[in-house]
Amino acid sequence: MPTESVRFFDTQFQRQVNAGEFELNPFERLTLPYLGGELLDLGCGLGNLALEAARAGCRVTALDGSPTGIARLRETAAGLGLPVAAHEADLGHWLCDRDYDGIVAIGLLMFFPRERAEALLADIVAHVRPGGVVALNVLTEGTTFLGMFEPDHYHLFAPGALKAALPGWEVLAESVDQFPAPGDTRKVFETVIARKP
Ligand SMILES: C[S@@+](CC[C@H](N)C(=O)[O-])C[C@H]1O[C@@H](n2cnc3c(N)ncnc32)[C@H](O)[C@@H]1O
Repeated sequence: MPTESVRFFDTQFQRQVNAGEFELNPFERLTLPYLGGELLDLGCGLGNLALEAARAGCRVTALDGSPTGIARLRETAAGLGLPVAAHEADLGHWLCDRDYDGIVAIGLLMFFPRERAEALLADIVAHVRPGGVVALNVLTEGTTFLGMFEPDHYHLFAPGALKAALPGWEVLAESVDQFPAPGDTRKVFETVIARKP
């Protein structure tokens, strides 16, 4: 049973597939140069970052709940002969069972209740290899956009919470970005890219 957020994004992805809109977003553009080796992209969406990372030499595993996103990523990667394994997954009930050189979760972790968001963040941090990279992007307190989803089903992170979950990691890039959103709401994002000691 897909969550409300997965249904929302699947509808958006169907529109984007029909319109041929596949640009990297600013967070994905920021992240791409830091990626290498075996990469896990959680909440990969349409797979734009997964495809570019694979083009740049990564071997990518990509997971998302959106059938439209996963189908588009699979077909495009197969057509281009790129090393991408894309699977539909319910990330609200998923445990990482191996380590990676890089783990990306861009625009994902806020779509879970607080306990699950924090547990998934801890699971990600634990499964990056020493010397590997994490790229995290979440909505933070101050965001008003998520009022459209069920209140118990999302979590706005406190400013600084991502870095606090990465003690001793080398921060490679970070940003705080604010965007106007539909219905006179706003989105405030925090992004951290960091290397594990
Ligand atoms: C804001 S989009 C980000 C997509 C992509 N990372 C990007 O930067 O464009 C959030 C993604 O998380 C996925 N997602 C949200 N909740 C999920 C869940 N419970 N299980 C699997 N995927 C989920 C959505 O389907 C969507 O692709």
